[in-house]
Amino acid sequence: MVGATLSDPDPERTGGTGSACILGPERCHLIIAGLAEQAGAHHSDIALISALHNLFRLYSEWNAEHSVRVGHHARVLAESMGHGRRDAGAVGLCACLHDIGKLHISRSILDKPGRLSADERAIVEQHPLDGLSCLDELSHGIRHIAQSVTALHHENYDGSGYPYGLSGDALPDSAQFVRVCDFFDALRADRPYRRGMSAWAAMEVLKQRKSFFRTDVLRTFEADVAPSNAVYA
Ligand SMILES: [Fe+2]
Ligand SMILES: [Fe+2]
Repeated sequence: MVGATLSDPDPERTGGTGSACILGPERCHLIIAGLAEQAGAHHSDIALISALHNLFRLYSEWNAEHSVRVGHHARVLAESMGHGRRDAGAVGLCACLHDIGKLHISRSILDKPGRLSADERAIVEQHPLDGLSCLDELSHGIRHIAQSVTALHHENYDGSGYPYGLSGDALPDSAQFVRVCDFFDALRADRPYRRGMSAWAAMEVLKQRKSFFRTDVLRTFEADVAPSNAVYA
């Protein structure tokens, strides 16, 4: 299983119903509400984030669900990495919208099993930047975190990511947290051509790609986030 996944250069993109991991709208909203409360988010921010999640769910359920699971993981990871409770809640809340730019990608590309053409891949790789305009109306503090994790969640610590190819300390902690959570969930969730991986198998893939992640972030994720099945039950 691990070998097959390593042959796939972009686990993020792959579609599927994720039937083994569906939280459902009520549970997603409870997670979002919990993150918002922890973050001390303003009512208008909570309303906008919830509305964008609903819209995203109507367009692509598996992407909306993935985003909330990543938000859940990102909050746990940020706390384990020593960030304050409120900051960790904000990172988690903002991570719930990290893929909102996929609203710009046609469903035929988003859900396509197998490999994308070069043109299709170029469209997909626009989604970190295409999502930014959706976040303009968030209040200042939340907007800054949301735009950061949205724009930078496909950047790798070794500089091999996109859209900017940033590396190392140029990447804020929040984006590095979401990167590892995003990668993990993309492997854990179902795809059209195979079931999601176990936590162990997904971690093996992450460790094979260890240059993508800061060492302490990956180590903490493995110890404190990956073992939990809270959002995969
Ligand atoms: Fe993404
Ligand atoms: Fe994602």
